[in-house]
Amino acid sequence: MTKVQVSPQGVLDLRTDLDLLFLHQEQPARKVLPGKAGRQLADALARRGFEAEVGKTVAVEVDAGSARRLVIVAGLGKKEKTDARALHAAAAAGMRAARKCKLGTAGVALPAAAGGMRDLESRSRALLEGLLIGSYSFDRYLSRGDQAPPLRRIVVAAGQHAAAVKKSLAPAMALAEGVMLARDLVNEPAGVLDPVSYAARIRRHFRSRGVQVRVFGRSQLEKMKMGALLQVAAGSEVPARVAHLVWRPARPKKRVALVGKGVTFDAGGYNLKTTGHIETMKCDMAGSAAVIGAVHAAARLKLPVEVHGVVGLVENLVSGKAYKPGDILHTRSGKTIEINNTDAEGRLVLADILDYAQTTIKPDVMIDLATLTGACVVALGERCSAVFGSDEVLRKDLLAAAQRAGELMWPLPLIEDYFEQLRSPIADCRNTGSRWGGSITAALFLEQFVGQTPWLHLDIAGPAFSEKEDAFWGEGGTGAGVPTLLAFLAGIGA
Ligand code: BES
Ligand code: MN
Ligand code: ZN
Repeated sequence: MTKVQVSPQGVLDLRTDLDLLFLHQEQPARKVLPGKAGRQLADALARRGFEAEVGKTVAVEVDAGSARRLVIVAGLGKKEKTDARALHAAAAAGMRAARKCKLGTAGVALPAAAGGMRDLESRSRALLEGLLIGSYSFDRYLSRGDQAPPLRRIVVAAGQHAAAVKKSLAPAMALAEGVMLARDLVNEPAGVLDPVSYAARIRRHFRSRGVQVRVFGRSQLEKMKMGALLQVAAGSEVPARVAHLVWRPARPKKRVALVGKGVTFDAGGYNLKTTGHIETMKCDMAGSAAVIGAVHAAARLKLPVEVHGVVGLVENLVSGKAYKPGDILHTRSGKTIEINNTDAEGRLVLADILDYAQTTIKPDVMIDLATLTGACVVALGERCSAVFGSDEVLRKDLLAAAQRAGELMWPLPLIEDYFEQLRSPIADCRNTGSRWGGSITAALFLEQFVGQTPWLHLDIAGPAFSEKEDAFWGEGGTGAGVPTLLAFLAGIGA
């Protein structure tokens, strides 16, 4: 990760290789830098038709004193619309543009107070988070010469606010680490990250980080009667794993269970996915990755909340041993499920681990995250997660946390009428309903396994993975869910 420092100097006083500045649409560009440099900057932006939209950047050379300086300007959009999301996007886009210059150090100006980002704390948090997260790249499989030389160091020129901005460094770093951990896990190819190597990686990562890790293998999962999860895994040469992580502070205010779908590759099983749908399915463990990233960050910040992470790790493949349409699975809860589509595997994995989490952890709150349905992407698009749950207070809390964290989340209803679609004549239920409202029937299916525990289900199928670099994200895993979970947990701790 790029090293970040905070300095009481102004941005032009720093002797960095380039400067990153922010601009609102209403802001006159010439005032962003003093004197001649400001005029040159304004001219260059006008010539290039730069309109300071969120996520847009432009690089300009200006004269500052005797030297030429390379300046990157990142758009912040309209002042009154400035929120954590806009700041994240602008800072991350600025960082990505700065990295492409292949220089060593960058000075960064503090964006002006505006919109919902008037107070210094939220403004500096969002800036630092965006910068750190924007410094991410997944380059371990590029041969040496192709690797982008990382920006070694950035210095935030915070002037009189330096001390206050410095206070935001630790929480911003914790979040960025959690997001990057989740991204690394999602970006790792399924040939490298399978259920067994994934579990080993979780163990290794949390060694000496104050987080307890238990990993259950096949024979234990059999004893625990996780028949649904085990059947999804049956088609793979690599056996299933369930990992249970615990961050346990001295005097916890609440106990929260985070439950994640960890399908390391979803080929669909015998309802095999086709070209156009299968290519990105290494991302189908993004729910579990978000859980792991959030537990990492919560432990890093020593939040006064007992946080459990439970992840179900399987591969959904085809073979002579794979489960088939028509099979009847026996879940840990005792309920039987008739399979009418082997590609609706995530809910089967979650059925067993939700039941495990609910009955053994007895949490105050349980939240699951999953790349669960394509229908959710149809409903809300590629940037926004769906939030399901019947507890209105809890749902409002989570949506407020998402807003603070700069993530797009939107509530969808648990329409109980549709449960009829999940009835089976020969088992307690089936695993899929009709095409219409597919993310709702998926959520209704999960609801059967949560008992009385206050519960939320986050379908992150849209934002978990970005197929190409755009204004908001680089290509690949995004870490979706981690910022919201951390904001939610910090909210309990506060
Ligand atoms: N992992 C997929 C959902 C998914 C789709 C995630 C696109 C990310 C991007 C899930 O296991 C799946 O295949 N769902 C099916 C459910 C259907 C068979 C009821 C789907 O959405 O098509
Ligand atoms: Mn599937
Ligand atoms: Zn899946």
